Amino acid sequence: MSAQAPRNDRFLRALRREPVDRPPAWIMRQAGRYLPEYRATREKAGSFMALCRNAELCAEVVRQPLQRYPQLDAAILFSDILTVPDAMGLGLSFAAGEGPVFAHPVRSGAQIDALPVPDPEVELRYVMDAVRTIRADLANALPLIGFAGSPWTIACYMVEGRSTRDFHRIKALRYTDPAALHRLLAKITQATTAYLAAQLAAGAQALMLFDSWGGVLSHADFREFSLDYGAQIRAALPQDVPVIWFSKGGGQWLEAQAGAGFAALGLDWTVDLAAARAGVGQRLALQGNLDPAALLGSPEQLRARTQAVLDAAGPAPGYIFNLGHGITPDVGPEALQVVLETVAAA
Ligand code: CP3
Repeated sequence: MSAQAPRNDRFLRALRREPVDRPPAWIMRQAGRYLPEYRATREKAGSFMALCRNAELCAEVVRQPLQRYPQLDAAILFSDILTVPDAMGLGLSFAAGEGPVFAHPVRSGAQIDALPVPDPEVELRYVMDAVRTIRADLANALPLIGFAGSPWTIACYMVEGRSTRDFHRIKALRYTDPAALHRLLAKITQATTAYLAAQLAAGAQALMLFDSWGGVLSHADFREFSLDYGAQIRAALPQDVPVIWFSKGGGQWLEAQAGAGFAALGLDWTVDLAAARAGVGQRLALQGNLDPAALLGSPEQLRARTQAVLDAAGPAPGYIFNLGHGITPDVGPEALQVVLETVAAA
């Protein structure tokens, strides 16, 4: 084992489908608003993006859930998937209660062709500084996950300019000028590949691609407009680095996703985990998929639902416990305690 291997290697072992003493656990958005100590640090930073640009404070919020919950087996970089389009010049801000907003969305082929591909150690230097600082702060106790958005998901935000319910602008582009959309996806793919390679060079030990909006694509389009670009990024990165692919709402396309070269697939809460395992076999690891809303129920119910996820995962190696999407701000920190104690007893 190299000197760089973390002391707790359950997560990396499960990604390689090696036996572990119990399923590793980490939680999407584990550093976040459900924790009062996170809200205090964000207050100190002034805003979410100011927090992302302060490497020491990023390390502080990464540490917070690890201190509260010794059962966690991985840390994730504190940043956002929208740093990449921001660095491409779109002008990201977070409006209170509204989510992300871009001052300069891209709507035309000409705008797409004019987009620069950022140099990760220049325009995204603050993210790499956060990776380096967090990695040093973890002192090899736990592995650090780097991440990015999938090209399709990033394109959704770039074209829509903000969160949307109907995705009509990007869908209109898909049907009126699919070649321009493909040029946009190719450019994001190029930027994201360089961004993730830089995160690896800065110290990330595993990577995750968030395809948060893959599930809004039609059956005929999922592979062409989302999965193929994710597979291109995977293929361009060193093969010994595990990459997790998470298509929210993508449960009906697990077979295709399982063949795209990833070490693991993330599953949202709508997926039958036991059926997913039976379908993909032992080709790769699976991660998920407790309904995040279960954390709003009683402790008894929450314990039972967590155990049901562990039972559905079965005894085969290659399973990582997580929620089916990020933990929400309305959850009490004690609910996550119940979940993680149940996993640790498995
Ligand atoms: O998981 C982690 O702990 C790592 C940090 C992380 C954040 N965002 C921090 C964040 C990660 C991995 C993300 C990914 C992300 N960002 C996704 C993919 C995952 C998903 O949720 O589907 C998406 C779609 C985004 C874009 C984004 N960032 C939105 C839509 C919002 C606003 C809505 C929301 O959930 O708050 C953000 C803000 C954001 N990113 C916060 C955090 C902790 C909240 C900001 C705050 O503190 O006010």
